Amino acid sequence: HKLLLVNGVNLNLLGKREPDIYGHTTLADIEKRLIARAAQYGIELICVQSNHEGKLVDEIQHHGLLADKAAQVDAIIINPAAFTHTSVALRDALLATQKPFIEVHLSNVHARESFRQHSYLSDVAVGVICGLGHLGYQMALTYWLDNLYSITL
Ligand code: DQA
Repeated sequence: HKLLLVNGVNLNLLGKREPDIYGHTTLADIEKRLIARAAQYGIELICVQSNHEGKLVDEIQHHGLLADKAAQVDAIIINPAAFTHTSVALRDALLATQKPFIEVHLSNVHARESFRQHSYLSDVAVGVICGLGHLGYQMALTYWLDNLYSITL
C-alpha cells in the first residue's frame, strides 16, 4: 500500500517562511511524522516537494499512472501552495491519474487575500482541509488510513 504526499512551491521554506502564517514546523518534520505513522501500518508514504510546476506534474503522473500498477499510489495528499490558485496543469494531472486526493493548506485561505479563495483543485478533491497548520496533513492521512485501509483512529 502506498500514498503520495505532494508539496508545492515555497513549502521547502516551512519553518523559516512567514511563521506567523505557516508555523514553525519544517517540511522535513511534517514528512518524517507522516512517514512514521503510515509505516506503523505497513503503508509507504512517498513525499515530493518542488518549486517547479512541471516537476510536480511529472511526479503525479509517475506515481499515479505511469508506474507499474503495483507501484502506484492509492491516493494523494497535496498542498500545491501558490499553484493552487494558478495551475490547470496540476488539476489535469491529478484527474489523469484517477486517484482520489485531499487538498491541504496550512493557513485558512478563506480568511486571506481574495486571490487565495479560488482553487483549481477543490471541486475535484475528495475534501479540503485548511487553517489547521501542519495538523491538517495528519488529518488527511487519518482519513486515507480509515477510508482506504479501514485503520481507525
Ligand atoms: C498555502 C496557501 C497558499 O495560498 C499559499 O500560496 C501557500 C501556502 C497554505 O498552505 O496555506 O504558499 O497553500
